[in-house]
Parts: sequence; C-alpha cells; structure tokens
Amino acid sequence: AVVSVKQALSGTYPAGSILTVRGWVRTRRDSKAGLSFVNITDGSCFAPIQAVVPAELANYESEIRHLTSGASLIVTGELVASQGKGQSFEIQAHTVEVCGLVDDPETYPIQPKQHSMEFLREVAHLRPRTNLFGAVTRIRHTMMTAIHRHLTGEGFFWINTPIITTSDAEGAGDMFRLSTLDLANLPRTPEGKIDFRKDFFGREAFLTVSGQLNVEAYALAMSKVYTFGPTFRAENSNTTRHLAEFWMVEPEIAFADLADIASSAEAFLKAIFKAVLEERADDMAFISERVLPGAAERLEAFIQAPFERIDYTDAVKILQNCGEKFEFPVEWGVDLQTEHERYLAEKHVGRPVVVMNYPEAIKSFYMRLNDDGRTVAAMDVLAPGIGEIIGGSQREERLDQLDLRMRQFGLDPATYSWYRDLRRYGSVPHAGYGLGFERLLVYICGLSNIRDAIPYPRAAGTAEF
Ligand code: 4AD
Ligand code: MG
Repeated sequence: AVVSVKQALSGTYPAGSILTVRGWVRTRRDSKAGLSFVNITDGSCFAPIQAVVPAELANYESEIRHLTSGASLIVTGELVASQGKGQSFEIQAHTVEVCGLVDDPETYPIQPKQHSMEFLREVAHLRPRTNLFGAVTRIRHTMMTAIHRHLTGEGFFWINTPIITTSDAEGAGDMFRLSTLDLANLPRTPEGKIDFRKDFFGREAFLTVSGQLNVEAYALAMSKVYTFGPTFRAENSNTTRHLAEFWMVEPEIAFADLADIASSAEAFLKAIFKAVLEERADDMAFISERVLPGAAERLEAFIQAPFERIDYTDAVKILQNCGEKFEFPVEWGVDLQTEHERYLAEKHVGRPVVVMNYPEAIKSFYMRLNDDGRTVAAMDVLAPGIGEIIGGSQREERLDQLDLRMRQFGLDPATYSWYRDLRRYGSVPHAGYGLGFERLLVYICGLSNIRDAIPYPRAAGTAEF
C-alpha cells in the first residue's frame, strides 16, 4: 500500500507490512556496516520516518549516497519495529526511487539546522519544508477546521461575503482601491482626465476590510451566521501584528447583546484551543520545545479558567494606577495601545481578558450607543503576548441613532442605504465579533511576528512570492 508517513507510523499497519512512502529527505547518515539511514518527511505529521537502506540496492552508490536534505524519493519496503527511541516504526527499504536530487546542495537554503525567522521569510516558498513551518501549517489547518466545526455545531451558517466592495465596513478609510490594467479604456472625467476612482465598471471599488455589514444582513434572516475569508487593510503599519492581507472570521448573531457575544467569543476561542491540543499534540510539543516553553500547558490553563471581563472605564483606572511607565499616557477617552492591552492581559490578569464599553468616539459608526450616551457596546478580547485578537460589538439597530452616528463620523447615510434597510425592515438587536485569525495563530504558537503565521505574508515591502 502507498501510505503517508503518518499512516506508516500510526500502528494501523502491523510490522511485516510492505508499504510505500513518498516524501523528502530530511537527513541521511551512512553507517560503516554498509547501510544508510534516511529520514523522510511528507508533511503529514511532525515525525519523519526512517528508511534503512542496504548497500546491496542497485542504485546505492549512484544515487542513495548522493541524497541530501530536500531530495524527493519513493521508498518501498518492510515496516519493522524501530529500535530508535521515540520512533515506533521504520522501513527496511527494498527499493528507493529517487525522484529529484537537490541541485547544488551547499547552497540549498533549507539546511538541516535552525534558521532565523528573518532568513526564512526571504525563502517563503521553501520554508514549509522546515520543522517549524510544518508544525505551524498543520496547526493553522486544525484551527480553520475547528472554527467551522464549532460554529456549525452551534447552529451557525457560513456566509461567503464579497471581497470586492464599494462601502467601507469599518469607516476608517483603510481600503485598497481597485484599478484596471486596461490602459486603453481607462475611465475619463468630463474634462478628459483619467478617473482612477471609477475603475470598477464605472464605479469606485475596494478590497473588503471586513465582511461584517454584508453578514449582518444574513444574520437578520438566518439568525446565526459567520463569514470567514481574507480581508485587506491599507493601514501602513509596519508592525509585528499587522498584515495588509489577513484572514478574519466574523460570527454575527440576531437577538444577541454584548454579554452574549462575550460569552460566545470565549467558548469559540476555547473550542479552538481544545482542538489544537487534541489534534496537534506532536506539533505543540515541538512548539513548546523550540518556540515557547509551556505553550501547550498554557492553552490548557486558559481552557480551564473563565476569561476576565473589565469595563473600559475600569481598565483606564487600572492602567493609571499600576505604576507602569507607558510610552503613551492613558486617560479616559483614548484608544488603548498595544502596550496597554498587553499589560492588562499579561500583568493584570495573566490570561485573555475582555474589555467592554469603549468611548463612542474611538470606535466604529455601527456600534450601539449605550444609555450613558458616551460609550458604545463594544468589546475587545486581549491576549497575553499580542494584545487585541478579537474586536466586536452590539450593532446600532435603531435607524435614527445609526444615522446620527454616520453623520458624526462624516459618512453619508445615502451610500449605506442597503445597510439602513436592515433597520427599517424587522430590525432586532444583534451583535457579532471578528477574530483576527493570524493573531490567534501567533498567540497559540508564541510566534514573534505575524508574518510567520500566514504562508505568504502581505505587508509593506513583502509581495515577492
Ligand atoms: O477590530 P477589527 O477592525 O473589527 C472588525 O473588522 C469588525 N468588523 C469585526 C466584527 O465585529 N465583525 O478587526 C477584527 C480583528 C482584530 O481584533 C485583529 O485581531 C484583526 O482583526 N486585525 C488584523 N490582523 C492582522 N493584520 C491587521 N492589519 C489587522 N487588523 C485587524
Ligand atoms: Mg479592533
């Protein structure tokens, strides 16, 4: 049978089975006894499988002795119980078909040693071959599937909202504008000048910053929905936690308020942590060893303990009285900076924390004004080591209030007419949140830069691949 490395090591096949595995050489070691030990990975699991290759094979001198890290091969042989520690099985090779050797092994970028993250970013097409990126990639996949599974189990429907949009969902002006390459037919102003603003079939269009407004419409028909896809932000933030293209999952719930979504977000994060611990124990063990000591235990602890909830107003007092020297001073009304968020999550609570009821002026136009008239029903979930990972709110379901807030933010209600309709036809209280997927992956794996949490990072100066 042709099996993955994971299947070969799993115990599904008894010793004595004749199996074929296909993959890439991690290391090769030759013994004096006329044998070579070749470690092979195919990405299916953290562990490689060891093939024991006898010198009697016809291509031993011509090919096996030239195998270097990264070469591809197909090995057929007998599965035998391994003497090596930590290895359940190995393969006694009968044939080894070499598919592709590595040109110039000395300059092959992925040598069997620890590379710096900066270096690996420059070889984004080859970094999935490393132990670390293999682990991160599998954890990423497990998180993705856990999200769909958890939300499906809670009765949510997955709604595919558009990437191309004409309205600014966050009202923050951080959108990338679309432009055509059809130079001969560029739209013109009446004066004959090129009108770059009308590039999308005569309209101005952008890459979406959030699917929230679109998914709200579906919540007001399907009750529990979410959108999950790539989102784009043109904020020129050259930081370790911002990407120009990132994935966001945005659950939206009808007949829900701020307390409901705080609970929903907590259960949601815990379900993801649980799936990672259960399905990726081998990868998390490696992460604990290489990147963040105790990474797995930390997630375990977060699953057990309830998340703390703090009012913004109280958070400001905590930050003012904590004695910490912050770069940005704190006073009521200011947006919390990463340093403040991290202090609250790391030092004050030591676990993820939900900060609620922010001043209305620093948050988005669609957030519901509280009865105090100066705060909105918004929440951020802050995590130790990174700060904000989730932003959410109860939405303003009252048309007159929504119009007021749009004008206050300099937005023209006319351009949001379909969104206003939702408040005219059977409006109900509703609320939702958005999880920055890569931020959560950074958090789970203890990575120091969000550019290592997505296969091909897009940020200022990084679009080579
Ligand atoms: O707080 P944000 O801007 O909220 C929204 O977009 C709402 N529409 C969500 C909702 O209520 N449905 O973004 C949500 C999350 C942030 O908490 C952060 O984790 C992540 O998205 N995020 C980014 N991640 C990577 N790079 C960026 N440039 C990000 N901007 C936001
Ligand atoms: Mg936010």
